[in-house]
Amino acid sequence: MTIPEPRLIPGELLARLARFGRVYLLDSVTSTNDHAFSLADRREPAIVLAERQTAGRGRFRRVWYSDPDSLTFSLLLFFDDPDDPALRQLTQLVALSICRAIETRAGLKPGIRWPNDVMLDEGKVCGVLCEQRKDAVAVGCGLNVNQPGFPEELGLPDAVSLRMVAGREFEKLELLDSLLAGFHRALDEARTDRLPALLADIRSRSAILHRRAEIRTLFRRHIGTVVDIDSEGRAVLRTDSGRLVVVNSGQVRSVRCS
Ligand code: BTN
Repeated sequence: MTIPEPRLIPGELLARLARFGRVYLLDSVTSTNDHAFSLADRREPAIVLAERQTAGRGRFRRVWYSDPDSLTFSLLLFFDDPDDPALRQLTQLVALSICRAIETRAGLKPGIRWPNDVMLDEGKVCGVLCEQRKDAVAVGCGLNVNQPGFPEELGLPDAVSLRMVAGREFEKLELLDSLLAGFHRALDEARTDRLPALLADIRSRSAILHRRAEIRTLFRRHIGTVVDIDSEGRAVLRTDSGRLVVVNSGQVRSVRCS
């Protein structure tokens, strides 16, 4: 049996992360989102980090691959007000904060493939899964950080890591610290008159706005040009027949991210 190397995390870095919630560092877990919800009765914000997930999931119940080179975590948050504007925009605010953290730490320019993918060089570098149970929300993120590549047998042809694009490795928890600081700032701003500026930044980073896209929802498929990501975080598509369609959530295909 091989004994795993202990992970040494500087106390100072841990203290920085702990500004945003109680920190749980796990070696292996089914899904960090599930673990986050299991803590909900404590009524305190939490950050659940795992090196591995045995049942990580993506949107539409897809299996989500993660390994120790990924930054895999969930934030447990509580929203007293169901009409909180930050809640309506949550996935977009997370995606924006991931883009900004990558830009700050890696000097790269990621884009948002609405609603929940962060893209680099036409590859997916991060997926976001926000789930809600009553007033508790788990914001789950899987960010590919230090993978040298993705073996073909994983079947992830569009996956890319920061290392693959930047040509160097990153300290995952420093990235997380930037991401959390930016995300909490964005949450606060979303509740003020700074919201339009946030929405403008989300739009400016969109990999689908003003482009032709195919958006698949559970029951339908829409093809056309994306004309807006609206103030509710929805995609507005002008179909080829000239109809405007507003989509809450879906899977985007056939787009290129420059
Ligand atoms: C997607 O692109 O479909 C979303 C992927 C979200 C994956 C993250 S990894 C951490 C958290 N735990 C999970 O089981 N899923 C999310």
